[in-house]
Amino acid sequence: MIKNICLTFLALILFFNCSETKPQLDNNKPVNRGLITKKAMVVSARQEASKIGSLIMQQGGNAFDAMMATEMALAVTFPSAGNLGGGGFLVFRLNDGTKGSLDYREKAPISATTHMYLDTLGEVIPHKSSIGPFAVGVPGTIAGIFEAQKTYGLLEVSQILKPVIELAQKGYIMTKNQAEYINNFDSIFLAVNKKPILYTGGFIAGDTLKNIKLAETLKRISENGVNEFYTGKTAELLTAFIQDKGGIITLEDLKAYKPIWREPISFSYKDYKITSMGPPSSGGICLGQILKMVEPYPIETYTHNSVKTMQVITEAERRSYADRSFFLGDPDFVKIPDTTLLSEAYLSQKMNSFSFEKASSSSEVSHGFINGYESPETTHYSIVDPFGNAIAVTTTLNASYGSKLFVDELGFFLNNEMDDFSSKPGVPNFYGLIGAEANKVEPQKRMLSSMTPTIVEKDNKLVMTVGTPGGSTIITSVAQTLINVIDYNMSMHDAVNAPRFHHQWLPDYIRVESGKYNASTLKELQNLGYNIDDTYYKTIGRVDGILVLEDSSLEAGADSRGDDTAYGF
Ligand code: DON
Repeated sequence: MIKNICLTFLALILFFNCSETKPQLDNNKPVNRGLITKKAMVVSARQEASKIGSLIMQQGGNAFDAMMATEMALAVTFPSAGNLGGGGFLVFRLNDGTKGSLDYREKAPISATTHMYLDTLGEVIPHKSSIGPFAVGVPGTIAGIFEAQKTYGLLEVSQILKPVIELAQKGYIMTKNQAEYINNFDSIFLAVNKKPILYTGGFIAGDTLKNIKLAETLKRISENGVNEFYTGKTAELLTAFIQDKGGIITLEDLKAYKPIWREPISFSYKDYKITSMGPPSSGGICLGQILKMVEPYPIETYTHNSVKTMQVITEAERRSYADRSFFLGDPDFVKIPDTTLLSEAYLSQKMNSFSFEKASSSSEVSHGFINGYESPETTHYSIVDPFGNAIAVTTTLNASYGSKLFVDELGFFLNNEMDDFSSKPGVPNFYGLIGAEANKVEPQKRMLSSMTPTIVEKDNKLVMTVGTPGGSTIITSVAQTLINVIDYNMSMHDAVNAPRFHHQWLPDYIRVESGKYNASTLKELQNLGYNIDDTYYKTIGRVDGILVLEDSSLEAGADSRGDDTAYGF
């Protein structure tokens, strides 16, 4: 299934005029660099979205204005994940060094219940949390982009949304990847919506896709502001649509939705300070745990993706995901022992059971025991603006095209984020992630996420803004990208394009991108007791990031696994 989500974008895609080759001074190995610009940059999943974000900054806007433009342009041109009907997380660093984060994650509706996905025997009803009206969480995206732009932006909303509305009206050209991908969903779109929708089929590369209804929705939002979505005509049309399909989201749910500014998770890794998203995303805590468990090992002296490197990272990933399953959930509902979870004492004790001689077994690794603890197709873009502000944003409908429900009157898909809750403790969700009490469904609660928008600094200066889609593989993809730059001195371009692997505690496999690893490395890992799956994922993550080079120019890492593209000036 995950194959369908994070798909075979692969090698068909070239590098969008963004690559140049430069000699690497230290060892004469060539370094491929991404696009380099002097002042500002947007890297996102679609060239139109990066271009519009960059244009807004050329017109005097900052990263928060560009965020609103880029996010909405992704909703137009990348409907599998770009959205009005989903949610996301923003991590930012202002040019004075201030850091923060905004949670605009979806919420469970007011009338949601803990057992809403179980039948009378207490078994999970297949697909109820992932397809159709019950899968939908209360959307947060419009509230999020308005909150960020109102707080820090410089331009008028009408100026920011103008080129996006024009794009929806005039249409965008479908890429080969996109056309082939969307055609796979014909039968499910039909089954869920009971009629053909705008995105129903037979697309080929080069087709122009206009979304007039979305243009109208964006125009109303541009004129009437955020309330248009949460209490206005759009809210009425949206709730009428959901209720007509049998769903439970009401006007009261929309009215009650508020994005939340949260303290981000901060930790050090070697000489770097890393800031990432805190709960309800597991991203920041798990990224911190993984990197801090890796830190004591001199992996820079082991070869990149060698057996030893993969062992250390895998064992750290395994241990962190065991904690994720048990401890993490919405901090407004559960108490999360984040200080302990990130403490060196706790983490080094977790790694005590690791030896290079033999793989650990996930059945013997569980969450830690902490005294006093009461149990109880996504897309990423990175922006640096001419003023020196940086943002990392990951936003999603959850699975590709979310619940597959398309609100034709409004021109957008609705999320299936409810599947990120644990429908029943111990039963894996769509991504095979196991949850517990901390992430059970409760009214008005936010479901646990893996999204990991991340900012890296050194000596109080910006170094990187980075993130990725990929469900449960998001955290491990971000961790490996940071290691690639910090420990292996890779360029941003090479760091995002290097092969990746993933371990999430359960199932107890190292998943590697098929065809990208040496057979001998995999054989050696198997001999040490690791289960290897090199068939499951063609690609893992699509990381987009920006690296600040020594001369202060900006280098793009636009993942060639997708249509991802950088623009800037
Ligand atoms: O919040 C989460 O962790 C998931 N809903 C993200 C989904 C995702 O990354 C899908 N992309 N491939």
